[in-house]
Amino acid sequence: MALLPSEVDDYLTALAGVGLSDVVLDEMEARARELRFPIVGRAVGRHLELQARAIGAQRVMELGSGYGYSAYFFARAVGEEGRVICTDGDPDNAAHAEGYLRRAGLWDRIDYRVGDALESFAAVEGEFDVVYCDIDKDGYPDAWEAARDRVRVGGMFICDNTLWSGRVAGLVVEPPEYDKVTPAITAMTRAVADDDRYVHSLVPLRDGVLVALRVA
Ligand SMILES: C[S@@+](CC[C@H](N)C(=O)[O-])C[C@H]1O[C@@H](n2cnc3c(N)ncnc32)[C@H](O)[C@@H]1O
Repeated sequence: MALLPSEVDDYLTALAGVGLSDVVLDEMEARARELRFPIVGRAVGRHLELQARAIGAQRVMELGSGYGYSAYFFARAVGEEGRVICTDGDPDNAAHAEGYLRRAGLWDRIDYRVGDALESFAAVEGEFDVVYCDIDKDGYPDAWEAARDRVRVGGMFICDNTLWSGRVAGLVVEPPEYDKVTPAITAMTRAVADDDRYVHSLVPLRDGVLVALRVA
């Protein structure tokens, strides 16, 4: 759920679309509406691209890629020589990601791995400029544990849905069963805040984007 009034959300989404006209992106958004698939949307997508470009990211690890919508923005940011490693448990998502991102001219920047995101992460060596987390929320604490030492100094850990429709701040929001994972989100967020190697900010775009820059 977007926390901002829908008019403000629409304004931000429209603004994020300026200079970004791509029929493939339109189709990915249409698919999300049709299937009620939780993509980050254009305002957060542009924010991810901005963050990645700002630190000159060339190697991005994405935990929870769906059919490649957020990866589209990271792939733009890393440029022709860069690499976005995508992960998802659903092979169908991988196939759709390839279809969309190939048509967008971005597929050669993608290494898409099907399976558990954290297992795929563990199977890849080295440090990353960005680790982006958007898996099932009960996995957030483990995702942070896996990422915290593998983000290079000067790199970023970024995590979506960190306001969780306001539940993290005690708002009572439907459906109540979604509240089961709120402690996992707040625990992860607190662990990031407590790590003095990182400077963080929780940006209240859409459902909340936690951005943490590794400074030491
Ligand atoms: C919120 S969607 C990702 C949306 C994507 N980041 C975007 O904005 O386009 C979460 C995705 O992560 C996948 N997922 C969730 N938990 C996972 C896990 N532990 N390992 C692998 N994939 C996972 C789901 O299959 C789903 O496609």
